[in-house]
Amino acid sequence: MKTITVFKGDGIGPEITDAVIAILQAAKAPLNYEFFNVGAAEYERNGALIPKEAFTSFERTHVLLKSPITTPIGKGFRSLNVTLRNKYDLYANIRPAKSNDAVPTPFSHIDLVTFRENTEDLYVGVEYKINADTIHAIKIITRQASERIIRAAFEYAVAHGRKRVTCVHKANILKMSDGLFLSIFKEIAREYPQIESDDKIVDNTCMQLVMHPENFDIMVTPNLYGDIISDLTSGLIGGLGLLPSMNIGKDYAMFEAVHGSAPDIAGKHIANPTALLWSACMLLEYLGETQTAFAIRSAVDAVLAEKKYLTPDLGGTATTEQYRNAVIAHV
Ligand code: NAI
Ligand code: MG
Repeated sequence: MKTITVFKGDGIGPEITDAVIAILQAAKAPLNYEFFNVGAAEYERNGALIPKEAFTSFERTHVLLKSPITTPIGKGFRSLNVTLRNKYDLYANIRPAKSNDAVPTPFSHIDLVTFRENTEDLYVGVEYKINADTIHAIKIITRQASERIIRAAFEYAVAHGRKRVTCVHKANILKMSDGLFLSIFKEIAREYPQIESDDKIVDNTCMQLVMHPENFDIMVTPNLYGDIISDLTSGLIGGLGLLPSMNIGKDYAMFEAVHGSAPDIAGKHIANPTALLWSACMLLEYLGETQTAFAIRSAVDAVLAEKKYLTPDLGGTATTEQYRNAVIAHV
């Protein structure tokens, strides 16, 4: 048995967390759970977005399933995600985008994964005012951070039987910074002769992604391009309710849906828990529980293919609970 930390967030967070935990339990996932309320509602109750005990739990378990939170506006908060990424050095942001027949989109054979560097680049947010009309922003690329994200992408390719890793960059213009990232990519690629490797300039990548997304496999990229193209790939498979992600570092791993707390549908029992559920499957795989993950993924595929218990975001009329029960029946 492995113990994991679970953050129940705001809006639809508690509803989808309950559904996911029920499915994990039905699938007999060998997990114990430490639950914490986090986010805006918790802040109103106790004066902290993330209570101290919640941090302590994550520091003990090293594995976190996090549901979305509402970012309080106008109170000077730093993004909670940026806080967690920096505090626990979650350097790799991994976002798989895969087509599903239940979600009609112009493309049907997309199966790609973005590896976004999560700690540096323009995202360090260091800006200088030179004078009232001139601002400089700092882009940071280091060998250490580049090596570990690029290696993570190749290791993932090997572990998951993938064919190709593509480096996405702008080294034609940013010759020193992106140039360093690209040259490290080429060095590391030589260590993995069994995996094809190539590189593409980021603007060309965007064009090709919307024309021939099925041609992409794994992409690895500095932080800012990764932020943008991974949202683009999300759009290609159509549907926020289906997008999982993981943020991992050397010692810690955090798994969450890509979507937010969806306050417009909170409490209505119509939220789609699949993105968080698939994030939980990635968590199981990370812990080596691949069979349980496979059982849950297969059950979800079956329920989606049946089209009988789809939530409204996928064009159906099922409640979160009906969908949950259908998945449990297949598990
Ligand atoms: P959102 O992702 O919460 O919602 C966008 C639209 O998608 C809404 O119409 C919503 O109903 C729908 N939607 C999202 N997830 C769904 C699901 N699982 N099932 C069915 N429909 C779903 O984005 P929005 O409205 O921009 O942000 C709401 C709040 O969430 C904000 O406070 C934002 O800061 C926060 N947020 C938190 C994130 C996190 O904790 N990781 C990520 C993104 C936003
Ligand atoms: Mg983003």
